[in-house]
Amino acid sequence: MENQVIYAALLGLGTVGTGVYKVLKNQEEEMTAKIGTQVKISKILVRNKEKAAKKIGNALIITTDWEEIKKDESISIVIELMGGIEPARSYILEALEAGKHVVTANKDLLAVYGGELLDKAREHGADLLFEAAVAGGIPIIRPLKQCLAGNHISSIMGIVNGTTNFILAKMTQEGMEFEEALALATHLGYAEADPTADIEGLDAGRKVAILASVGFNSRVVFDDVYIEGITRITATDIRYAREMGCDIKLLGIANDTPEGIETYVCPMLIPSSHPLASVNDSYNAVFVHGDAVEDAMFFGRGAGELPTASAVVGDIFDIVRNIQAGCCGRIGCTCYKELPLKKMEDTKNCFFLRLQVEDRCGVLAEMTSVFARHQVSVAQIVQKATLKHDCAEIVVITSKVKEGDMRQAVEELGTSSSVKKIPACIRVYEK
Ligand code: NAP
Ligand code: HSE
Repeated sequence: MENQVIYAALLGLGTVGTGVYKVLKNQEEEMTAKIGTQVKISKILVRNKEKAAKKIGNALIITTDWEEIKKDESISIVIELMGGIEPARSYILEALEAGKHVVTANKDLLAVYGGELLDKAREHGADLLFEAAVAGGIPIIRPLKQCLAGNHISSIMGIVNGTTNFILAKMTQEGMEFEEALALATHLGYAEADPTADIEGLDAGRKVAILASVGFNSRVVFDDVYIEGITRITATDIRYAREMGCDIKLLGIANDTPEGIETYVCPMLIPSSHPLASVNDSYNAVFVHGDAVEDAMFFGRGAGELPTASAVVGDIFDIVRNIQAGCCGRIGCTCYKELPLKKMEDTKNCFFLRLQVEDRCGVLAEMTSVFARHQVSVAQIVQKATLKHDCAEIVVITSKVKEGDMRQAVEELGTSSSVKKIPACIRVYEK
């Protein structure tokens, strides 16, 4: 095979950008042997040149001027690793218009503007690949688009945020409360200085929008995903869940149902025997059900410098192969359907409800009549403990009920004089 060099530009030299630079350097010789072509980073766009130069010891290829990259006809691939919406969106659109191929890990952008960017790529016969945008180093976008293309995918659920999985794992294994586990995650560098996007479920919500779009061949955007984070989960909820043979995980759920697509992110009780329950620490996993393959699970590192770079470099290899074969743009947007979206109120789940109620005769009867009024069928009811001030802690597990009915029941219980507090209302995963 003839040895060639393909030039690429990196936009951003932070955690992932530095990882991609390192992995490409490590692969220099092997890449030529593997695919007969070397990819060289000839320009890197950053805001702070000095900081970047210290990282790679080569100031010559660093620039703060996007136009320099856009107009450089020798650059065939733009690797966007800056994050955020702007200027990333404009730069990707301009790169595609200039006939360059793009790799990005930017889930924030793809979860909102994925359709626009993929349309632009198709218009210009270019590749726009984004394996790293969901679950970092775990291959999931390419498997859904290619390896599992012969399936009707009906459900995708995953642990797609490492920070929250680490926090919940510490709360489970060491009995920590949320704040203590978050402080540990921050100390160990898992949680960012501002952890909001992780702990409030927004990061997972973006990934679920992308997974649903790719898995169900119908565009789902970030605003379509119902999101609840893990900030209200307590060590007591986890202890009670364990007593019932369950773990609590922040799950991203996407189901293609006859009534429409449902997408949500929320903490859920999941049986400890389910493969996702054993995904601990900062690991991610995505569990897919297809009509032909049945169940398949993808597991690994969902973030970090080298794991995320691994996915980005895999995309670069694919583009190089497409360039060599003259078939760029081969697998672009796969959203050929326009499926309806189901409202969260219409989804059905079992619920775990923890209530603190007056410890007196007749209270349980009052509660069950509230459930009955709202079509909430109770599967289990247990008095867990007698607390101070004649107060009892009750745990209720419902059958599968409509979210809207459950919300009304909880609202009415909240107004009852016998109910002192409703510390937890958590969905329970049931197949
Ligand atoms: P990061 O560490 O914050 O790095 C961002 C880089 O982009 C920095 O070098 C920054 O330069 C540069 N940058 C930002 N805005 C810029 C602008 N307007 N012009 C030029 N340069 C700009 O971010 P990261 O963690 O590497 O994440 C990069 C992307 O990968 C994001 O989309 C993220 O969601 C995604 N991702 C990250 C991970 C992960 O594990 N970190 C995993 C999966 C996906 P300065 O330092 O000079 O400001
Ligand atoms: N903040 C994310 C996580 C990694 O904790 O998994 C980037 O997607």
